[in-house]
Amino acid sequence: MRASAARPSRRRVGRLVASLLVAATAFVAQPPLQAEYADVVINNRSEKEGVRPVIFPHWFHRVRFRCKVCHFELGFKMRAGGNDIRMNDISNGRFCGVCHNGDLAWGAERCDLCHSGKPGLTTGIRGGHETMGPGRY
Ligand code: HEC
Ligand code: HEC
Ligand code: HEC
Repeated sequence: MRASAARPSRRRVGRLVASLLVAATAFVAQPPLQAEYADVVINNRSEKEGVRPVIFPHWFHRVRFRCKVCHFELGFKMRAGGNDIRMNDISNGRFCGVCHNGDLAWGAERCDLCHSGKPGLTTGIRGGHETMGPGRY
């Protein structure tokens, strides 16, 4: 009797905890961490494939677009180097190529504007409370 009465309420508690966790995750995702300012270096493949590391000026972009445009609608995971971005995808209008298509922003043929990092730079966040932009590292 006791046990069967306790079960549904435990389930309710479980559901409550689950929704609190969802809320907490949403909250944690909200405040901009280091990337609100600064730049993201992406060098998962670039140098191995013979081009310079990519500098993505996060601050420059985030003042122009809402977080959700990139981190929800375009599906960029919020982790430096955490996306498996291929040049082919960009040229086919995915990831950076959603905007860098010669229409909304300059196109994928401007290699040096994205592959602007100095050789040897590793993937991660660089810079402080301002963007340094392409070619500064
Ligand atoms: C124009 C697209 C764009 C916009 C807008 C944008 N981001 Fe990002 N963000 C990125 C990309 C790209 C990365 C790096 C992903 C990678 O390296 O694969 C990134 C990385 C991050 C990271 C990871 C930092 C780390 O330490 O690894 C966080 C946190 C983040 N963004 C938060 C935000 C927040 C908060 C906003 C809004 C204020 C925002 N972003 C707006 C594209 C964007
Ligand atoms: C809008 C920004 C942007 C432009 C412009 C751009 N790239 Fe990329 N490229 C990237 C990003 C981001 C990656 C993923 C970086 C990584 O994982 O190291 C990448 C990856 C690459 C890679 C690694 C291998 C692969 O296939 O993914 C090569 C090679 C490459 N780009 C060559 C080029 C060349 C050549 C041009 C000019 C014709 C160019 N890129 C223009 C952003 C750009
Ligand atoms: C939501 C649209 C959007 C996405 C996604 C996007 N960009 Fe951009 N980006 C822009 C716009 C708009 C500009 C400004 C273009 C101009 O000034 O003509 C820009 C400018 C830049 C600049 C030049 C910044 C400066 O200081 O002038 C770089 C470098 C750049 N983007 C790299 C990237 C890379 C790398 C990615 C993918 C990781 C990316 N962008 C994804 C819209 C986007």
